[in-house]
Amino acid sequence: MIFDILTLFPEMFQGPLTTSIIGRAADKGLVGINLINIRNYSRNKHRTVDDTPYGGGGGMVMTAEPLYEAVDALRDRYSGRLGPVVLMCPQGLTFDQSMARELAGKEHVVLICGHYEGLDERVRALADLEVSIGDYVLTGGELPAMVIVDAVARLIPGVLGEPEGTEDDSFAGGLLEYPQYTKPREYRNQPVPEVLLSGHHAEIERWRREEALVRTLIRRPELLKGNLTEDDRRTLREIARQALEMKDIKA
Ligand code: ADE
Repeated sequence: MIFDILTLFPEMFQGPLTTSIIGRAADKGLVGINLINIRNYSRNKHRTVDDTPYGGGGGMVMTAEPLYEAVDALRDRYSGRLGPVVLMCPQGLTFDQSMARELAGKEHVVLICGHYEGLDERVRALADLEVSIGDYVLTGGELPAMVIVDAVARLIPGVLGEPEGTEDDSFAGGLLEYPQYTKPREYRNQPVPEVLLSGHHAEIERWRREEALVRTLIRRPELLKGNLTEDDRRTLREIARQALEMKDIKA
């Protein structure tokens, strides 16, 4: 899978995308990350990429032209078969695991990182999709682009060690992930739950599903909707019954 990232600050990507799992995936050729400096597509003498806003007001606005030229150049490079063009933007659709999965199915994705106080509105017409990574405003689209590359790349087969490595992730099955433990068996008065030491596969599976359900119920109850099996409903009813019983005891 190839990412073409249009940015004014390609140097920001050194580190996050060259180390650890994503760095290894790039070394193995599982993901290609091309950083394209938008400034290279500025046609004016001083290679500027921003200007003052029409109508007045403070700040600078990123001009449309270099971005259009950069995307045109990509279209030429890929003989017109460009993947989706995704604009990083706080006004976009909120990025989530299902969007990551959808993008992981593409062969090519173009990410546009805005900067300065805003973008010329006409840049939006270039994009197939506008994506926000959350309801807060960052100084530019570079960090959001890195978040997207990371979340998408780890879903590409071969990027994580285990083929089933992402199946139990939080959000993968619509629920938060169950608790995980490793050695030692007890640490500072916190023992590993007995069931995980039992070697009893079916019981471990049941325990993990229940823990995922309870954790999701407590932390993110809105995720439960649409992600429950009949067994899960029974489990949740049982948990509610036990909770009510405990309340009676306390009262
Ligand atoms: N650019 C600035 N803030 C952003 C956000 N939250 N998501 C995507 N792009 C952004």
